[in-house]
Amino acid sequence: MTDALRLANIHSMQTKSKSVNILGIETSCDETAAAVVADGRVVKSSIIASQTKLHEKYGGVVPEIASRAHIEKIYPVIAEAITQASVTKNDIDAIAVANQPGLTVALVVGVIAAKTLGFAWGKPLIAINHLYAHLQSAMLSDDNLQLPAPLEILTKGPSNHQKRPFLTGPAVALIVSGGHTCLYDCRSPLELKLLGSTIDDAAGEAFDKVAAILKLPYPGGPSIEKAAEKGNPDAIKFPRTMLGPQSLDFSFSGIKTAVLYYCRGQDMKGEDKVDSMSRQQIADIAASFQKAVIDVLLEKTHRAAEKIGAKTILLGGGVAANNELRKRLQQMCNSAAPPKKLLVAPKPYCTDNAVMVASLGYHKFKAGLFADLTLEPSATGL
Ligand code: KG4
Ligand code: ZN
Repeated sequence: MTDALRLANIHSMQTKSKSVNILGIETSCDETAAAVVADGRVVKSSIIASQTKLHEKYGGVVPEIASRAHIEKIYPVIAEAITQASVTKNDIDAIAVANQPGLTVALVVGVIAAKTLGFAWGKPLIAINHLYAHLQSAMLSDDNLQLPAPLEILTKGPSNHQKRPFLTGPAVALIVSGGHTCLYDCRSPLELKLLGSTIDDAAGEAFDKVAAILKLPYPGGPSIEKAAEKGNPDAIKFPRTMLGPQSLDFSFSGIKTAVLYYCRGQDMKGEDKVDSMSRQQIADIAASFQKAVIDVLLEKTHRAAEKIGAKTILLGGGVAANNELRKRLQQMCNSAAPPKKLLVAPKPYCTDNAVMVASLGYHKFKAGLFADLTLEPSATGL
């Protein structure tokens, strides 16, 4: 197919009135996922093959094992997503794939699958940033949300901001996952500017490492949350690292070390006290740790909102599944003057999934932002 013909085909797909079906593919870490989403928000299928069992005994994701498992699962998962959506390849308008950031050896599996299918089926390819996709999940939370028309944005330029029905002003997006903790200035699904990120451990990584110290089951986030339910969040005063009064960056390695010292002694030479601790003591450590992390996340989100005059806060990423974080962020938004609108990713779309990839793919499709067969995975890209 010539380039001119291909572009003409894409243009006719963009402007046709029938719904647009995007196949999303996600393999950035330890979930092999595929989904078919119509018009950016109608979920026709969502298949996730989790590798949790494979990585459990190592207490974290082993890249080589993740890569091999993705290779085994990717085509069955895609086939299942197509079958469950009750569509055929002819109904798919484009293939969106997460190509950054993440584990390169894992991302490459999804990227090769997407390029192969795109080439074989003659479908356009769309490159998706995994973190922007997490943010897109938060936008799935509001049924009444009117998303902007990116084609209009492209033709009229950023001066059109005020006229758009979507966000009534700038929004701050907090993305908290196992690999990243980021704050963005968000104007639309396609207009994001990084405001701050972690300088060491991500929030989810801290949950996972503290869970390992407390000998709670893997993955750590949900285990800490469960243990914390019965604990006293004020029992232990763990540090809140703020990195200066203006900083929008995060640091969570200090709190992880503080928990370690609390359990093993300052010189790490003492006995591991965890084995002899009562359930209540473990619960108190979990609750105190969780409160300290949430305090930092809220303070930084508040600073970012003040800085850009945000009227809306978006929350996404695996740690966004945490009920205490959801509750306290809602309280913060309610008590702001004037109150801020909070959009939180629905629980099934907090941890890694392909719905968020396909949903963001729709907006890039409408904007004509396509990739080609030179697309490569990249470990970085905030
Ligand atoms: O977004 P995600 O699935 O993968 C990455 O992109 O990294 O996030 C996974 C992270 C893990 O660190 C996991 O422990 C954390 O999200 N997590 C939670 C909860 N559920 C998952 N952290 C705190 N509370 C939870 N309920
Ligand atoms: Zn993720």
